[in-house]
Amino acid sequence: MPHLAAKLMLLIVASFRFFLYSQAATQQLQRASSANDTAGCVPREQDALLAFKQGITNDSSNLLASWRRDQDCCGWTGVTCNNQTGHVVELDLNSFLLVGQISSSLLSLGYLEHLDLGTNFLQGPNASVFPEFLCSMNSLRHLDLSYIPFSGRVPPLLSNLSNLEYLDLSFTSFFGRIPHQLGNLTSLRHLDLSWMYNSTYSTDVSWLSRLHMLEYVDMSNITLSTVTDFPDVANMIPTLKHIILMNCSLPSANQSIANLNLTKLEELVLSRNYFGHPISSCWFWNVTSIKSLSLDETYLYGSFPDALGRMFSLQHLDFSYNGNAATMTVDLKNLCQLESLYLARSLSSGNITEFLEKSPKCSASKLYALSLPSNNMTGMLPNTMDGMTSLNGLILTNNSISGSIPLGIRNCTSLEYLHLSSNQFSGQIPLLPRSLRVLEVTRNIFSGNLPLEFGAPNLERLILSFNYISGQVPGSICRSRNMKFLDLSHNLFKGELPHCSDMPNLSFLLVSNNSFCGKFPAWLQSLSSLVFLDLSWNRFNGPLPRWIGHLVSLRILLLSHNMFDGEIPVNITDLKGLQYLNLAANNMSGPIPKTLSNLIGMTIKHRPGPNDDSDTSLAFDESQDTFSLVTKHEVLKYGAHGLVDVAGIDLSLNHLAGGIPDEIASLSLLTNINLSSNHLRGKIPKNIGSMKSLESLDVSKNNLSGEIPPSLSDLTYLSYLDVSYNNLTGTIPSGRQLDTLYTENPSMYYGNSGLCGPPLQRNCSGNGTPEHGHGNNQQESEKDSDSAFFYYGLGSGFEMVLLVLFCVLLFKKSWRIAYFLLVDLVYDKAFVFLVVTWSRLARRNTSRN
Ligand SMILES: *[C@@H]1O[C@H](CO)[C@@H](O)[C@H](O)[C@H]1NC(C)=O
Ligand SMILES: *[C@@H]1O[C@H](CO)[C@@H](O)[C@H](O)[C@H]1NC(C)=O
Ligand SMILES: *[C@@H]1O[C@H](CO)[C@@H](O)[C@H](O)[C@H]1NC(C)=O
Ligand SMILES: *[C@@H]1O[C@H](CO)[C@@H](O)[C@H](O)[C@H]1NC(C)=O
Ligand SMILES: *[C@@H]1O[C@H](CO)[C@@H](O)[C@H](O)[C@H]1NC(C)=O
Ligand SMILES: *[C@@H]1O[C@H](CO)[C@@H](O)[C@H](O)[C@H]1NC(C)=O
Ligand SMILES: *[C@@H]1O[C@H](CO)[C@@H](O)[C@H](O)[C@H]1NC(C)=O
Ligand SMILES: *[C@@H]1O[C@H](CO)[C@@H](O)[C@H](O)[C@H]1NC(C)=O
Ligand SMILES: *[C@@H]1O[C@H](CO)[C@@H](O)[C@H](O)[C@H]1NC(C)=O
Ligand SMILES: *[C@@H]1O[C@H](CO)[C@@H](O)[C@H](O)[C@H]1NC(C)=O
Ligand SMILES: *[C@@H]1O[C@H](CO)[C@@H](O)[C@H](O)[C@H]1NC(C)=O
Ligand SMILES: *[C@@H]1O[C@H](CO)[C@@H](O)[C@H](O)[C@H]1NC(C)=O
Repeated sequence: MPHLAAKLMLLIVASFRFFLYSQAATQQLQRASSANDTAGCVPREQDALLAFKQGITNDSSNLLASWRRDQDCCGWTGVTCNNQTGHVVELDLNSFLLVGQISSSLLSLGYLEHLDLGTNFLQGPNASVFPEFLCSMNSLRHLDLSYIPFSGRVPPLLSNLSNLEYLDLSFTSFFGRIPHQLGNLTSLRHLDLSWMYNSTYSTDVSWLSRLHMLEYVDMSNITLSTVTDFPDVANMIPTLKHIILMNCSLPSANQSIANLNLTKLEELVLSRNYFGHPISSCWFWNVTSIKSLSLDETYLYGSFPDALGRMFSLQHLDFSYNGNAATMTVDLKNLCQLESLYLARSLSSGNITEFLEKSPKCSASKLYALSLPSNNMTGMLPNTMDGMTSLNGLILTNNSISGSIPLGIRNCTSLEYLHLSSNQFSGQIPLLPRSLRVLEVTRNIFSGNLPLEFGAPNLERLILSFNYISGQVPGSICRSRNMKFLDLSHNLFKGELPHCSDMPNLSFLLVSNNSFCGKFPAWLQSLSSLVFLDLSWNRFNGPLPRWIGHLVSLRILLLSHNMFDGEIPVNITDLKGLQYLNLAANNMSGPIPKTLSNLIGMTIKHRPGPNDDSDTSLAFDESQDTFSLVTKHEVLKYGAHGLVDVAGIDLSLNHLAGGIPDEIASLSLLTNINLSSNHLRGKIPKNIGSMKSLESLDVSKNNLSGEIPPSLSDLTYLSYLDVSYNNLTGTIPSGRQLDTLYTENPSMYYGNSGLCGPPLQRNCSGNGTPEHGHGNNQQESEKDSDSAFFYYGLGSGFEMVLLVLFCVLLFKKSWRIAYFLLVDLVYDKAFVFLVVTWSRLARRNTSRN
């Protein structure tokens, strides 16, 4: 889905930049107020800084505005001086998003200790080659060049900076071997060489052991495929607190270390290295100082060692996505610091009853997140959910857990996320904890009525689909004012929907496949946030209201298989964002609205762009599930992704009369059109061949007459065509595409006595020449490239690099804390992570301003 990814990146870049600007602006304010210019700035250094500013060609948020000759440089944004000598000691321009060159004038800052140029698009005087003069700034103690797209080798000369304590080269574009000379930086405490966005490697890491003050080392994404002694090397640096080696192609972690002296180690990240050996043979289980241990995607297997139960400092254990080949029977009762335990898709079996019995039992358990999806677990939840007062997320999706949700769940007073989908839970939905925000129980065997009181006023997502819940939906559900996503579909509900006029944020309302009755719900009228409405397969009746055109955010409208009647209100074409309209199998009569071309959500040209469309993110953010949209001929999977990519109109099985409006051909994004089983007359619009995205076209069982437009054979994506049982005449258009379709569905031309020519046996008597040429192909391909430009055309290379940089940035910085790790996702974790982080940043941004 390249378009989507590109759009998303745009979103991320746009809002992340904004976030950074405002952050930088805040910094600026803080600095200005704390500036102490008693000593005053040294003129030579002021000149040097001004020369540096000269090299900046773009300072889009004007953060260097204060850098003026008539002002003391110690008060400039990003500049800090020693308050006695007046020498510039710190230059911190992180995330200013400057474009330009790093001037060698910086060399005049002879007392500079702290240089942070990270996250700027800066180059050396010689293009993207690293400016080696930086390596002679001997006074430097802190050097941050992260996210600057330098290429070339990691410069060995950096080892000249003998006072360096902090070095961050992450997300640069250096490549090749990591120079062992870095081992000369013996004052280093913090070394970050991660994610250099090109191939970097090291075959021998013994140089690291010379960094005897090192506390933090991150070498993620540096290929270390031949390094088998990493633990030994690390063991010679007892000061180490953080070891982060994600995605390093490390061959194993089963070294045996006689004498562990890593007594300060707090964080160990070995994620995404394929080890594939038993868990218990790993070297680190006796390192009891570890607080955070990440072993996701390491494919370790077998049983966890009892030593785990003695890692009393442990706060976070991530052992997700390891293939289902591990077992966890260790007694974790005494791990009183444990906050999160992520084991998604990693266990071969388990019994949740026993698992919870062995979970931390301390007077004040801190267990916050317990994630066990897709682990083939059985058993039941215990009646009293004792000692779970800190639990915030319980994710048990896709196991074989049975029994009911215990009443004791009400005692989990911090619980916000309860994901129990795809299990064998049964019984009634109980009174829920007040704190709950998300309840997902789709695909279980819950039954009985919903409780009259949910008792969870903060619910935002309530997903009850595919169960056997019956009775009326209690009106109390309306008290969850923050509800965004309500899915009651595929149950045994009956009666009318409650009148929830006070759910201002409701975006997804899915109630299909129940026995709901009544008119089109009037309370939806005020819901300008509604994106997705599915009332299909119920007993709703009456006309569709004209005010439907007020639901301005609506993108998917599914009303099929009800008893709606009357005409299709023309106002439906006011829904500018509408992408999928399904009114099939109702009693609709009258004509198809002529103003179809107003549905610009179904056209490529006017498709809402990434910047002006807040719904896009909303849809991504909120829907982690994929839903299935069943059309007559195929099942379209959609959800977070598909909401953007699905477009179709299904009006089949009604009593619609009149012609097919020619305007339909302007809906260039449509993939599915089904108008079958109506009373439509007139011709198939001849410009239908311009609908390049069309995959399925069904106009069967109408009274259409005239020829099949020859342009149909231009539709390269067409995979289903049915024109049977009409009154069509003339020669069947030729073309390989149509021949293939005919082979697959030989009945597609049935019931049209006037059709002739191959593939039918019937010869055309009058040699009918095709009237219509091959349309306006050129115009179309221009349109296509237009939209490609729209998605990818970011203009300058700078934007492109930023895009790449920020995406990786987001990837790195906080992915381990992302809530999404809790959830067992069907699609790419990283992708979702980007979205979530983006929306978090956006949220943070809003609350800031
Ligand atoms: C500025 O320096 C003076 C003495 O040189 C000191 O009294 C004052 O607290 C300093 N102000 C700030 C904001 O650092
Ligand atoms: C210099 O400034 C720093 C912080 O700005 C302050 O902590 C320190 O005490 C100051 N020194 C003198 C001598 O004013
Ligand atoms: C990555 O390294 C190659 C040489 O191996 C180099 O040609 C290329 O420019 C580098 N890519 C970037 C983005 O710097
Ligand atoms: C730097 O390290 C190399 C070996 O890696 C060594 O030969 C050299 O003497 C060191 N230089 C200094 C200044 O310590
Ligand atoms: C990780 O390393 C590979 C090459 O080993 C490189 O292609 C990729 O861009 C790097 N990823 C990041 C995020 O830096
Ligand atoms: C760490 O332990 C090893 C034994 O594994 C020992 O040889 C080495 O001297 C120790 N290093 C330090 C710095 O204590
Ligand atoms: C861990 O410590 C136990 C004794 O406490 C010892 O038997 C075992 O060999 C140690 N394991 C490792 C991998 O060092
Ligand atoms: C799930 O567990 C059952 C036994 O409880 C076992 O027969 C089955 O193979 C397991 N399935 C998987 C995918 O591990
Ligand atoms: C799960 O464990 C509990 C407690 O040990 C036991 O009573 C129950 O039978 C087990 N359930 C299954 C399905 O093994
Ligand atoms: C909640 O906890 C209290 C005290 O532990 C207990 O008395 C009560 O029965 C529990 N409630 C439920 C519904 O289990
Ligand atoms: C429906 O559309 C018609 C014609 O565009 C317009 O006159 C009418 O005001 C609309 N009704 C509502 C409720 O928006
Ligand atoms: C079919 O179309 C012809 C004119 O093309 C018309 O005379 C005839 O009545 C139509 N038949 C039906 C069943 O509508």
